[in-house]
Amino acid sequence: MPTIREVAQQAGVSDATVSHVINNTRFVMPGTRDRVLAAMSSLNYRPNALARSLRQGKTNTIGLILPDSANPFFAEISRCIEDEAFKLGYSVILCNTERDLKREQFYVDVLSKKQVDGMIFIAAGDQVDSLNFLLGEGIPVVLIDRDLPSREVDAVLSDNQKGGYLATRHLIDLGHTRIACIAGPSNITPSSERIIGYHMALEESDLPYDEELVLCGDYHPESGMQITKEFLAQDPRPTAIFALNDLMALGALRAAAESGCSVPEDLAIVGFDDIELACYTNPPLTTISQPKEETGIQAVNLLAGRISDKTLPPRRIVLQPQLIIRGSTVLKKDRDVSENSGCG
Ligand code: RIB
Repeated sequence: MPTIREVAQQAGVSDATVSHVINNTRFVMPGTRDRVLAAMSSLNYRPNALARSLRQGKTNTIGLILPDSANPFFAEISRCIEDEAFKLGYSVILCNTERDLKREQFYVDVLSKKQVDGMIFIAAGDQVDSLNFLLGEGIPVVLIDRDLPSREVDAVLSDNQKGGYLATRHLIDLGHTRIACIAGPSNITPSSERIIGYHMALEESDLPYDEELVLCGDYHPESGMQITKEFLAQDPRPTAIFALNDLMALGALRAAAESGCSVPEDLAIVGFDDIELACYTNPPLTTISQPKEETGIQAVNLLAGRISDKTLPPRRIVLQPQLIIRGSTVLKKDRDVSENSGCG
């Protein structure tokens, strides 16, 4: 492995000059810089990242811990985070916990030993052990998507209660009075907050909150399909379903098709997340759009700020969701063309 010393000798400069060229820590005359770069290239010299991070006390790397990398919502938000991190000179190490607490704790340990400069953290459940470990170690962390009842920590969240209200209000405005809900795992705030919004909209229109119309899924399509079949077997059956995420809404669309239910004429369906696939179902899915790009930008910038100054007061940013009306609740011919559908 060629050393800085060999590069310096070949370029006819000091070791310090080579270090300044590598780390951009001081101005170097263009001619000298070119000689150093040429020597590095001819010797095939590669700066030792570990040595540099020990010297600088930074790795320019952040960790991203999330519960389900196969879910398009998390894949899309990861891309937004990686885009913003790249702009700020950070690389991202993504860890998928599969909503398992032990895997979450394992990855938090791995990332802290890898000396990441900070972490963006989506909790596997409602346990605060991992978060408290990070706070205790003084590792900068930003919560996104799922809130945790913990000491003050930076967080970027969606107004899930508002989103649940908008979805249900939309169905009520279409004249639905028997609206079922496919809920998500009850131990995470997005699920519990969206149900509150669902309940608020029903109450506002004097519609009863019927426990039989609220069944718990797991945020995967299969659970959405099975629960929809249960709803369709009820008599009277619901005429509308609000699924607390798009993947379960996809399952609901399949159950409706297999049951001979036309959407939206016989059964209206609303999802939550607005994943890219929501545009390509038949009919396209009405859903609540989560501000994924804004969440990524805000989370990375909050984290970069905390990496630079750990004394900053914690900030909580709550972003607004948006109702996106598509064909799974309103036929295209009946839609106001100005209504934002994001696709056909
Ligand atoms: O689709 C996965 C769901 O879990 C999303 O609604 C997101 O908010 C996450 O909490």
